[in-house]
Amino acid sequence: MSLKSGKIHQGDCLQLLPKIADGSVDLAFADPPFNIGYKYDKYHDRQDDQDYLDWCAAWIEQLHRILKPTGTLWLAIGDEYAAELKWIATRQIPNRFIMRSWVVWYYTFGVNCTRKFNRSHAHLFQFIKNEKDFTFNAEDPAVRVPSARALVYGDSRANPKGRLPDDTWVLRPQDAPESFQPMDDTWYYSRVAGTFKERQGFHGCQMPEQLLGRIIRVSSDEGDTVFDPFTGSGTTLAVAKKLGRKFLGTELSEDYARYATERLAGIRSGDPLDGPADPLSSSPNTANGTTLESRIRRKAGDRRQKTLLGE
Ligand SMILES: C[S@@+](CC[C@H](N)C(=O)[O-])C[C@H]1O[C@@H](n2cnc3c(N)ncnc32)[C@H](O)[C@@H]1O
Repeated sequence: MSLKSGKIHQGDCLQLLPKIADGSVDLAFADPPFNIGYKYDKYHDRQDDQDYLDWCAAWIEQLHRILKPTGTLWLAIGDEYAAELKWIATRQIPNRFIMRSWVVWYYTFGVNCTRKFNRSHAHLFQFIKNEKDFTFNAEDPAVRVPSARALVYGDSRANPKGRLPDDTWVLRPQDAPESFQPMDDTWYYSRVAGTFKERQGFHGCQMPEQLLGRIIRVSSDEGDTVFDPFTGSGTTLAVAKKLGRKFLGTELSEDYARYATERLAGIRSGDPLDGPADPLSSSPNTANGTTLESRIRRKAGDRRQKTLLGE
């Protein structure tokens, strides 16, 4: 049996992954629970260290199996287990991945801390199976950014097509104009904060569409199949659908799966991605991005989230 594409399959990814055929997926994006005690409705995010790592090894191995020989796995993870998951993917599992990029995503609106520096980044690993043959759409204009030559110096010798971003990704460079240029390898995208128009309201870990846009555009082509084992609010699949890719995902929670399915139903191929496409402009905030209607919808979503969390 194989899992149908175009939908979210509710259930444990480890039970569902074996139902996906070998070598059938072009791009997998995995944003697992980080094992930091985050409150999900169903999943308990505080496992014993070794149990968590064994669990990660099991799904990483499965993702390697379902990817085509030319396929790519992008894996998002926090500081706590970044080193371990990189080791598992590139050294431990029987068929090892090759790490192509270790991207740092620098975001704003992180959680405020009182006795340590505020966390403002996550790690994004780009893993491939074959370094001689994998999808990397370096020429896609939506992936490229203006070079410093063009942006800062207005130099006429600058490549009009721009250049590839560096591996630190910044989504709101206006907050650190000197430190984070859009062509750098620290990626700067804001988290999807509670006040943002983009926010779905039922899931606290919603990723920004623009970040997934860069990943899906660079590592897959139109018509390719994108898979997300930890669908959550459905961002990966929403962006895949907008960008004309086939998609499927798995999600443990019945409620998240249902709400994310509703989100997908409201999307058409070719729809614009949420959030600012130009990383030099700001994410819409309450002041300039929220209408009364969206505020009411968000509040309803927040109530749903509280109910889900039993608060
Ligand atoms: C960090 S969130 C993903 C957020 C997602 N990237 C987004 O943009 O909304 C992780 C998700 O994995 C789900 N999850 C946890 N264990 C799972 C499992 N064994 N199989 C499938 N989903 C699982 C959780 O319910 C949660 O929604």
